[in-house]
Amino acid sequence: MFGSGGATLWFTGLSGSGKSTLATAVEQQLIQSGRGAYRLDGDNLRSGLNGDLGFSREAREENCRRVAEVARLFADAGLVAVVAIISPYAESRQRARQIHADAGLPFIEVYLAASAETCATRDPKGLYAAASAGHIGSFTGVDDPYEVPESPDLVVDAEATVVEAVDLVLGVLERAVDPPAPTSESSEAPN
Ligand code: ADX
Repeated sequence: MFGSGGATLWFTGLSGSGKSTLATAVEQQLIQSGRGAYRLDGDNLRSGLNGDLGFSREAREENCRRVAEVARLFADAGLVAVVAIISPYAESRQRARQIHADAGLPFIEVYLAASAETCATRDPKGLYAAASAGHIGSFTGVDDPYEVPESPDLVVDAEATVVEAVDLVLGVLERAVDPPAPTSESSEAPN
C-alpha cells in the first residue's frame, strides 16, 4: 500500500545545516513517487510531543529517544520516517539505530556536514546571532557540543544543492530497503 518497505532516514547536523529543507524535499519526492513518507521535524515536535523538553543534555537525549521510537512506529507501519533533529550526541543516535535494528527496520543516518561557521553565516532564524549575543544559552555549535558522526551512512556536503542531496539520499534508501540481488558469481552453483 505504501509503495515499498518502511525505513527511517535520520538527518543530523547543526541548526541551519539544511536538515528541514532536505527532509521536506525528500518527503515530497517520496510521496510523488507513490511512497508513503512522513517528516518528523525537531522544531515541530518540540511544540507538541516534546513540548516539555529543553536543551540540557538529558532533555536532548530524551528528545532523541522519543523521536526514534515514533520513527520506528512509522517505519513499522511501512512508511519512510524522515527525521530532522540536531541529535548532537553519538550515543543517542546509536540508540536510535539500535531501536530500529531490534525491530529489523532499516535506519539510515545522514550527516549534514555544514560547519558552525557556515551555519552562523546562513543563520536563517537569527539564532546564532542571538546565541552569540548571550540571549540563548547552550546553543549547539556556539556553547553546546555537537558530536560529529564517525560512520554515518551518508555525508551531505554543505556545498551540495538540494536536488543533488535528494538524489544521494534516495539512492542510499533504495539500496537499504531493496538491496541488489546477489550476482551469479556470488550465489552458490545449483546442485
Ligand atoms: S536536539 O538537540 O534536541 O536534537 P532539536 O532538533 O529537537 O534539537 O531542536 C533544535 C531547534 O530548536 C533548533 O533548530 C532551534 O530552532 C531551536 N533551539 C532553541 N534553543 C536551542 C538551543 N539551545 N540549541 C539548539 N537549538 C535550539
